[in-house]
Amino acid sequence: MDVDNANCKVKVSQCTDMEVLPIEKPLKIDVEITGLERLIEELHRVFSRDYVNVQEVQKLMAGYKSNPKDWSKYAKFDRFRYTRNLVDAGNGAFNIMILCWGPGHASAIHDHADSHCFMKLLSGNLDEVRYEWPDNVQPEVMKVLKNNNKSRRKCCSESQDAMLDKVSKQNVNCQSDSCGDKCQSDSCQIESDSCQNECCGEECHSEDEGYDIKDMKVRGRSRMELNDVCYINDALGLHRVENPSHVDGAVSLHLYCPPFDSCRIFDARTGKPTEVKVTFWSMYGKKIKRVIEANTVSDSQ
Ligand code: SIN
Repeated sequence: MDVDNANCKVKVSQCTDMEVLPIEKPLKIDVEITGLERLIEELHRVFSRDYVNVQEVQKLMAGYKSNPKDWSKYAKFDRFRYTRNLVDAGNGAFNIMILCWGPGHASAIHDHADSHCFMKLLSGNLDEVRYEWPDNVQPEVMKVLKNNNKSRRKCCSESQDAMLDKVSKQNVNCQSDSCGDKCQSDSCQIESDSCQNECCGEECHSEDEGYDIKDMKVRGRSRMELNDVCYINDALGLHRVENPSHVDGAVSLHLYCPPFDSCRIFDARTGKPTEVKVTFWSMYGKKIKRVIEANTVSDSQ
């Protein structure tokens, strides 16, 4: 099924055609894009229109064959955690970044803040692990789907139906933003706003009231190979990404639409969410100075 009229230029919950949300892969890749610059130009062209469909973006990303010469200037690794390196701010409609994963690096289980997430593997291997939403947290898009569903049950695809069945059984409580989680941001670039430096490491004590010890449910795990593209949004669940190699790094290209500067990470043991800020390690090939370094520079002037 090719979808012509679906708007993935807006939040997932505002998508004009909910049918596209479970489509995770384009059926055929019939474009060839020579070079990352060309891919970015094409993405600008597509996102300048009012309506953008998920498959078109996936096809473009799949049509580009990774060449390290195109992206090595953005690929900045850190020893301790994966890095997020901004490549293009997409006129505010989307953003494109390169993520560099050292051996064993992984992201925390996270949502996508009601945005669309496209991801392409440029080098190495990555595992994507999908999770179900915890029972007491509900994404915005499921509220919309649930309302649509009241009036028109047949509008949903099978996977949305399955999601809705689950949601209808849930007792929807709102999530807490407060600190108290076992800090998962230690090994990732998704950094906790209020918890940073306070609850990392052994001293972190959990305040898990309302969150029983109940491991988050894994929905599936898939290994990404060179040039593979995957797509996720909040209707499809949560995920985390891991570099399975103990020796080699991995590099991936991510497109988020619309861009977001915070999302929620989840404690794998309890499902407890924590709002975190997302940060960049570098922008347009230049490493970002940490605030503390910037202060040091201005103090010495
Ligand atoms: C991921 O999908 O795991 C990467 C999250 C991020 O954008 O930092």
